[in-house]
Amino acid sequence: MSATDAELEPLIREVNDSHRALRQKIEALVRTAGGNRRIVYKTTLSDGGEVKLRDDVTPLFEGARVFQDRWKLSEHCAQLLKQATGAVDCIAEIGVETGIYSSFLWEKFIPERMILVDVKFSNFRAENQRTGMEKYEGYSSAVIPTLDDNSLDFAYIDAAHDFANVSADIEAILPKMKRNGIIQFNDYATFNLRFALPYGVKAAVNNLINSRRVSVVGHGLCPLGFDDVAVRVL
Ligand SMILES: C[S@@+](CC[C@H](N)C(=O)[O-])C[C@H]1O[C@@H](n2cnc3c(N)ncnc32)[C@H](O)[C@@H]1O
Repeated sequence: MSATDAELEPLIREVNDSHRALRQKIEALVRTAGGNRRIVYKTTLSDGGEVKLRDDVTPLFEGARVFQDRWKLSEHCAQLLKQATGAVDCIAEIGVETGIYSSFLWEKFIPERMILVDVKFSNFRAENQRTGMEKYEGYSSAVIPTLDDNSLDFAYIDAAHDFANVSADIEAILPKMKRNGIIQFNDYATFNLRFALPYGVKAAVNNLINSRRVSVVGHGLCPLGFDDVAVRVL
């Protein structure tokens, strides 16, 4: 059962009014505090807090490029891997949903195998299935550790978006990546305004960049702020 537009109208108005009221409260708070005083309240709502990138690792961003969207960034990753190895052996998407991005990745990387991981495949559309795709149903925390070590050329991470789960996905996927393999992260953000939901992706990915042997390959922009970032595992 789904509601009609007319039935949704009052709810949509209420959400928009709440956004406006919240903005007015924040403006009043800033005005009342006065000047440049730093006010301590949840500015990002990120459940991973604020993680700044280190600036003492020179090659970290060397050769990194900015792309107009995530699709162009993935295409770039495919080109880099194909240039380096000739052919791509195995890629993975963690968090698949309809499979629209899986089929796109399949066309761009032309891998031998593609591993798809999702807690449920009920939303997967048959037209996105390709021979060579292997579906693993279950939580990423349970499935990723069962994959072979040093087996993935590329991984697209887009499952849970809270700090703890994204950090766990990163730890689990790292040993599964081949040397010079690339991990692309969707929703490199601190907050999902649409669902008023804190995101920990940016904090978890920044922790990875700060603390492990990786270099940034590129950044895919998104008009709504749900950018992608890709890193190479050195
Ligand atoms: C945003 S959707 C993925 C969209 C897809 N990557 C794309 O670009 O079209 C997130 C998917 O991750 C799945 N998911 C969420 N948390 C998960 C987890 N902990 N383990 C496995 N799958 C998860 C959800 O079922 C959902 O299908």
